[in-house]
Amino acid sequence: MKIAFVGKGGSGKTTLSSLFVRHLAATGAHVVAVDADINQHLGPALGLDEAEAAALPAMGDRLSLIKEHLRGSNPRIACADTMIKTTPPGEGSRLLRVREDNPVYDACARPVELDGDTVRLMVTGPFTDADLGVSCYHSKTGAVELFLNHLVDGPDEYVVVDMTAGSDSFASGMFTRFDITFLVAEPTRKGVSVYRQYKEYAADYGVALKVVGNKVQGRDDLDFLRAEIGDDLLVTVGHSNWVRALERGRPPRFELLEDINRRALHRLRTAADATYALRDWERYTRQMVHFHLKNAGSWGNERTGADLAAQVDPSFVLGESVTTLV
Ligand SMILES: Nc1ncnc2c1ncn2[C@@H]1O[C@H](COP(=O)(O)OP(=O)(O)OP(=O)(O)O)[C@@H](O)[C@H]1O
Ligand SMILES: [Mg+2]
Repeated sequence: MKIAFVGKGGSGKTTLSSLFVRHLAATGAHVVAVDADINQHLGPALGLDEAEAAALPAMGDRLSLIKEHLRGSNPRIACADTMIKTTPPGEGSRLLRVREDNPVYDACARPVELDGDTVRLMVTGPFTDADLGVSCYHSKTGAVELFLNHLVDGPDEYVVVDMTAGSDSFASGMFTRFDITFLVAEPTRKGVSVYRQYKEYAADYGVALKVVGNKVQGRDDLDFLRAEIGDDLLVTVGHSNWVRALERGRPPRFELLEDINRRALHRLRTAADATYALRDWERYTRQMVHFHLKNAGSWGNERTGADLAAQVDPSFVLGESVTTLV
């Protein structure tokens, strides 16, 4: 299951991503946590100290390795240099699974222990000003998009991505890569306006979008979110002393998380799991091709000097039944 946490800066994406990762891990699920946010805080939120977080390998610095591996023997991709973030897999490409060892995890993922359970953590690396501008070619989140487009994931396997709701994800198609997207919104006009914008982009692509209200205090906050968001409001989370203790650098055991917040995480899990029955690998593949052709036309062909439309394998559908040469 591919799950994104998006929202306005400071809304609580990283906090809720990390709580959700802990919740999944505590039930024995297999989890890959991905930090694709502008502010790289997922490692610390999962309990890493400063030195450990700083030592995490950046996916953005390992794009060549990732591309070289994923390309495999795909005859439509002559060399890794012509692979852009949206280049879709085809016959001969190497696919990835949540539960395996592979060169991409070796290079980019690190194990993080959470009260005895272990998850994999991957980070894009810190964003620079150039990453936030027009530089699609070097986009940090491009590595994550390639990962998601080559990933074959089943139920009980989770990829949780902490990301920003910025224009980068809309240009590339990143926002269509998830079984469900949790938009974290504080009960403020700004929080709600990010939701509206996301909803508008998502509408044409069948994106499953649910809002998680965060830092909700009392009746007025709840009424505000209900009135502004309606049925898309899945659950709300209030102020958590457990989170505050984590912020002080003393993460309590996860089993001590407040009951009400534990129930909220359970709601998220149930909502995410329910989307599995709706998963449509053909549509998933079609959308990655759609965004690839769009990016090829707008900058990719010019940038690589190749006809990137020719990378599309028309008969390929990503899915659990795909078998590839490794
Ligand atoms: N439910 C909560 N209870 C207590 N503190 C919270 C809660 N949610 C978020 N916070 C605190 O609010 C701050 C911002 O949260 P967080 O870093 O998760 O937001 P973010 O959306 O990831 O921000 P950024 O855009 O900077 O990455 C943090 O200090 C966090 O500990
Ligand atoms: Mg964050």
